[in-house]
Amino acid sequence: MTMRSAKTKAMILTRIAPVALTAAIAAGALAVPAQAAEETHALKSVHFSFDGPFGTFDRGQLQRGYKVYVEVCSSCHSMDLLAFRNLSEEGGPDFTPEQVRVLAADFPREVIDGPDDVGDMFERPGKPSDNFPPPFPNQAAARASNNGALPPDFSVLAKARHAGPEYIYSLLTGYEDAPAHMEMRDGSYYNPYFPGGQISMAPPLSDELVEYTDDSPMTTEQYAKDISAFLMWAAEPKMEERKRIGFQVMVFLVVLGGLLYFTKQKLWRDVEH
Ligand code: HEC
Repeated sequence: MTMRSAKTKAMILTRIAPVALTAAIAAGALAVPAQAAEETHALKSVHFSFDGPFGTFDRGQLQRGYKVYVEVCSSCHSMDLLAFRNLSEEGGPDFTPEQVRVLAADFPREVIDGPDDVGDMFERPGKPSDNFPPPFPNQAAARASNNGALPPDFSVLAKARHAGPEYIYSLLTGYEDAPAHMEMRDGSYYNPYFPGGQISMAPPLSDELVEYTDDSPMTTEQYAKDISAFLMWAAEPKMEERKRIGFQVMVFLVVLGGLLYFTKQKLWRDVEH
């Protein structure tokens, strides 16, 4: 590359840079109001045990959250990607394999299996290796039972929404009377945390709805917090492992950085600058 072409390139770059920067800032400015308009209400701030780079799940909370899922949400929301056996895997609710066998067999729905010898499908109690059986055979059936609205699958919901656990908590505890000026669709409920403010899910939680055996308060807020934590685990069952490895990698990089620095000092000590 000649001296001259390098210079021309540098000149072009200095001319382009401000334009590109302005474009980027303009794009950013446009993106912000769009996002703000989508969020009808700022989310409630909740503290979760798994917040921050070292946070871990609270086992008792995950077990309670599972109970809320089974007894309340599972009649409408599927959780296709998870299997019963995940409940006893490391980093999760920490049920024992024996408990998981019982939970799978006691799940409110049986598992569809087959075909049998004569080609028929049949139902049987769940086993740890089964995925959670869905409440509806397909999306059309799910909509037909829910006023046309589709209850989303829970497998990755907490990660598919911005600030998932806070969003789910805010939504579940955020039902209010609709403001007078708002025209509500039939079968919808006012909830300022749902995009658009109208949701087709009736408030699913109320105080004393689920029996807790560990002295935790049996309130809507506590249920909402527990199911939000459970859904975060469901969406990212390996979160604790990811944080642990991330930390180990950071330590490794710091040590390696130090070693490289001293190596460099030693190698270049006798070279004149
Ligand atoms: C009677 C059926 C039913 C039950 C029970 C139910 N839901 Fe829903 N849920 C729905 C429907 C239908 C929608 C979709 C609403 C819409 O699109 O307007 C929904 C939507 C949601 C959303 C919003 C998802 C999004 O797209 O942002 C969340 C979160 C949610 N449900 C959580 C729960 C939790 C947690 C429970 C249990 C405590 C529960 N639901 C129980 C029917 C139900």
